[in-house]
Amino acid sequence: MMRSFSVAALVVGAVIATPVPQGFDWDAIADLAPVPSASIPIVNAAAQQTTVSFAATAAASSVSSAVLAQPTDTSLRMVKRVDNSACAVQPSSQDTASAFSSNQDFAADANNAVTPVGYTLAYSNKAGSSEGVYGYMGYSLLDVYDTATCAARCDSVHGCSSFNIYLERDPSQDPTSTCSDPASTTVIKCVYYGGPVTATSATNVGQWRNDFHVVIAGSNGYVNNSISTPAGYTGPVALGNAAINAPLDCAGHDTYMGVKIFTSGPFDASLCAAACSSQSVYNLAHPPQNGVAQTCQFFNTYVLYNGTQSVGQYCSLYNESWPASFATNVGQYRSADHFTVGYSYTFSNTTGGADVPAGCTNPAHP
Ligand SMILES: *[C@@H]1O[C@H](CO)[C@@H](O)[C@H](O)[C@H]1NC(C)=O
Ligand SMILES: *[C@@H]1O[C@H](CO)[C@@H](O)[C@H](O)[C@H]1NC(C)=O
Ligand SMILES: *[C@@H]1O[C@H](CO)[C@@H](O)[C@H](O)[C@H]1NC(C)=O
Ligand SMILES: *[C@@H]1O[C@H](CO)[C@@H](O)[C@H](O)[C@H]1NC(C)=O
Repeated sequence: MMRSFSVAALVVGAVIATPVPQGFDWDAIADLAPVPSASIPIVNAAAQQTTVSFAATAAASSVSSAVLAQPTDTSLRMVKRVDNSACAVQPSSQDTASAFSSNQDFAADANNAVTPVGYTLAYSNKAGSSEGVYGYMGYSLLDVYDTATCAARCDSVHGCSSFNIYLERDPSQDPTSTCSDPASTTVIKCVYYGGPVTATSATNVGQWRNDFHVVIAGSNGYVNNSISTPAGYTGPVALGNAAINAPLDCAGHDTYMGVKIFTSGPFDASLCAAACSSQSVYNLAHPPQNGVAQTCQFFNTYVLYNGTQSVGQYCSLYNESWPASFATNVGQYRSADHFTVGYSYTFSNTTGGADVPAGCTNPAHP
């Protein structure tokens, strides 16, 4: 099954707030739709293998239209079987969840797995699969625990930037009242994400289905080392788990232009680029009465997390570039909830460097 995304503007009606300082925009965050959660079947998983398709060019052009139509909107929302026969085979007495969880072969598979070229290991041999990760893009089953095959499949899914490989104790048929604890089948899952899997996301330790206990072993996560650079922009500059928090520039000018946040589809810097460029087009067409139109020349994009749950792909827009030394926002509390930053990158307009404000030798330094 293929699913595809289209893009529509979400009418939020939020006005861009007073820009400096630019900690997380709580009003914009409060208006967001939740990030779709992964739906990875437990029963008959083989028959339901799926990849989520992503048309990057179409998505970016939809972002442009949305920005031109609603330039102050902070959020751009991307829209986008069961076998009930009786227990034919009774489980053996060794077929238990605890035997599965303590299987040393499974641990060895995970611990000895080779990290694919171009990827970084995020976690290994966890008893939980990832959940709350940004940009679920489908899954497939593997005949053997093979990270290279899973990586190759991720590479062939447009937008896939990380994957989770694990062994799962699944029921051989749907557990029903007449067959509440059927024999198990070991399923090796390769799950694709369009955002980074993180060690703290590996918390899905299974579930009960009737009397059958679904458990997970040998869960490893890998993240692609590179992200692509949008046309017309230079970068990425990797900021890790920190976001830019720009002061006024050397001439006392506020360079922050507000946020756009995406909640579905893969993490894709070109969505921010489309928003940035289109904001410039809009502003140039609607200049202030006695002033110069502000154009977007730089953006910082990252995954915003609420605890371990991804909230969205955040894009902060600026009319001047800022170096990594200004990446000082490593998270903020909202009551008891800890909001943090991951997978943070900046990009600059390739030709925009000429816009040095009066009184500055370098636009990126106060
Ligand atoms: C990683 O991501 C980049 C950019 O999207 C892509 O070109 C590449 O094929 C991916 N895989 C590897 C192993 O680099
Ligand atoms: C950035 O925008 C501010 C307005 O907030 C303006 O004063 C400044 O000159 C702009 N910088 C550039 C390089 O255009
Ligand atoms: C970069 O900035 C220049 C000058 O403002 C502008 O003409 C150009 O369209 C911008 N590029 C992109 C990709 O937005
Ligand atoms: C953050 O997560 C908590 C649950 O952990 C939830 O109650 C709260 O509404 C979330 N906040 C936002 C802004 O999503």
